[in-house]
Amino acid sequence: MSDRPEHWNGVYARRAPQEVSWFQPEATMSLELIAATGVARDAPLIDVGAGASLLVDGLLAKGFRDITLLDVAHAALAETRRRLGPSAGTAVHYVVGDITTWTPVRQYALWHDRAVFHFLTAPSDRAAYRRALALALEPGAHAILATFALDGPERCSNLPVQRYSADALAAEFAGVLTPVEARPEVHRTPSGTPQSFVVVRFIRSARGGS
Ligand SMILES: C[S@@+](CC[C@H](N)C(=O)[O-])C[C@H]1O[C@@H](n2cnc3c(N)ncnc32)[C@H](O)[C@@H]1O
Repeated sequence: MSDRPEHWNGVYARRAPQEVSWFQPEATMSLELIAATGVARDAPLIDVGAGASLLVDGLLAKGFRDITLLDVAHAALAETRRRLGPSAGTAVHYVVGDITTWTPVRQYALWHDRAVFHFLTAPSDRAAYRRALALALEPGAHAILATFALDGPERCSNLPVQRYSADALAAEFAGVLTPVEARPEVHRTPSGTPQSFVVVRFIRSARGGS
């Protein structure tokens, strides 16, 4: 059985949300790229490995009202639920699950993943992720994936990561996603350390899945 829930729940139990290395006070790049897709405010969006990210706060502020947050760590989603309080109403759906074993029960207009896919170092886990994504997105839907870049860290949260160039990330999703644009991003951890990311915006290809 996977020890991912134990690992990640432990991380969120030990550290305050603003102390984890991936914390962003505002998910600026993600919000910019989501705006670039032109996706409608009532369209269903999913943030895979959402953690306790403030992306959902930014989306709610912009009027999005069908947002699913999926994470293997129950503790992370509980923190977001506490932070948002009743103001989020029915706009936010919480799913505790591992993306490598999760089967979507509906489709989404947009898939967002910041710093999750890069933890999948086993080819079988990456194939499982692609299968879930292919099922979750109809042709023409959008995906935004952010991973550590080739000059980014080799590990995060005590786990090894797979680093990508924009081309290598696109190659991972060939036949499933078509790249639209790629942007570099330097994230500053709460302690001020720079971390190099690559962020790629895709469209779900007309055919194919893995
Ligand atoms: C580095 S954090 C990024 C969190 C958030 N996306 C952000 O940008 O703040 C990675 C998150 O992915 C979650 N995670 C790791 N592996 C996962 C998996 N296989 N399925 C679902 N969530 C996973 C962790 O619990 C953690 O919240």
